Amino acid sequence: MPAFNQKVVIVTGGARGIGRGIGLAFAREGARVLCADMDDQTGARFVSESAGLAGEIRFQHADVSQSRDCQGLVNTAVSMWGTVDVLCNNVGIQPTTSYAAAHELPEEAWDRIINVNLKSCFLMTKYCVPVMKQHGGGVIINTASVQGLQSMKGVSAYAASKGGLLSLTRQLALEYAEDHIRVLAVNPGTIDTPLVDEAIRYVGGDEQSIRQQYARAHPLGRIGQPDEVAQVVLFLASEKASFMTGEYVTVDGGMMAKGAWA
Ligand SMILES: NC(=O)c1ccc[n+]([C@@H]2O[C@H](COP(=O)([O-])OP(=O)(O)OC[C@H]3O[C@@H](n4cnc5c(N)ncnc54)[C@H](O)[C@@H]3O)[C@@H](O)[C@H]2O)c1
Repeated sequence: MPAFNQKVVIVTGGARGIGRGIGLAFAREGARVLCADMDDQTGARFVSESAGLAGEIRFQHADVSQSRDCQGLVNTAVSMWGTVDVLCNNVGIQPTTSYAAAHELPEEAWDRIINVNLKSCFLMTKYCVPVMKQHGGGVIINTASVQGLQSMKGVSAYAASKGGLLSLTRQLALEYAEDHIRVLAVNPGTIDTPLVDEAIRYVGGDEQSIRQQYARAHPLGRIGQPDEVAQVVLFLASEKASFMTGEYVTVDGGMMAKGAWA
C-alpha cells in the first residue's frame, strides 16, 4: 500500500516549484492533496497533469496571507475528505522588487512578504490544529530557507520571515506536542524553480553563467530539484520521523556546512 494512502495533505503555494514537487510526491504515495495557490491557471494545469497518480490533487484558489482563504482551505479539505493529516506551509515570496537595503524597502513590501511567508503559517496552523486535535494528531511542515540561518544583503523581510518560521516551528512544536502534532521545517538551498529563474533574470547578464555560479555555491556542485526537497518533507511527515518535532532539516547540497556562502 502507498505510504500516504488516503492521507489528507494541504500544500500552500502548491501550484509550481517546490510546492508542486511536494504535492506530486504525496499524491504518488496515495495522498489526497489540496493545492492552494493564487495562480489559478498554473494550478489547473497541475491538476490535469497529475491524473493517474495513486492519490489525487485538487486545486483551490487562495491568498494564504488572508484569514478567510486559509479557513476556506481547511473547510474544503474537511468537507471533501473529513480531516487534515499533513499541513505543508510551503508558500513563500521573494519579489525581485524587494531586493533593497532595509531603509529603502517600502513598508508595503515588508508587510506583504511577512504576511505571505510567515503570517500564513500562523493562519493555516490556527485553522488546521482544531481538526488535527479532533482526529488525534497530525504533522505540520514549514518550508523555511537557508536564509533563515545565514543571510545576505538586500533581503531583510525575506530573511526575517524565514528566521521567524524557524522560531515559530519550535514554538508550535512545544505548543502541540501533547496533541500528537509534530511540527518541523525544511531549509532548502537553491532549488530549480521559477522563483530562482526570476532571481537569475534579475541579476542580468548571461543566465547560464549565473546558474553555474549558483551551482558552484553548493558543495555538491549543482542546485537542487523540487523533488529532492519533497522527499525530505515526506520523510518528516511519515512515521519514520515519529520522534522528530521542533527541528529543521537543511536540504542545501552542503552549502550551510561550508559557511560564508553569501
Ligand atoms: N527555490 C529556492 O531556491 C528556495 C530556497 C529556499 C527556500 N525556498 C522556499 O520554498 C518555498 C517555495 O519556493 P519556490 O521556489 O517553489 O517558489 P515559486 O515562486 O516557484 O512558487 C511559489 C508558489 O506560491 C504561490 N503564491 C505566492 N503567493 C501566494 C499567496 N499569497 N497565496 C497562495 N499562493 C501564493 C505562487 O503563485 C507560486 O505558485 C518558498 O517558501 C520559498 O521561500 C525556495
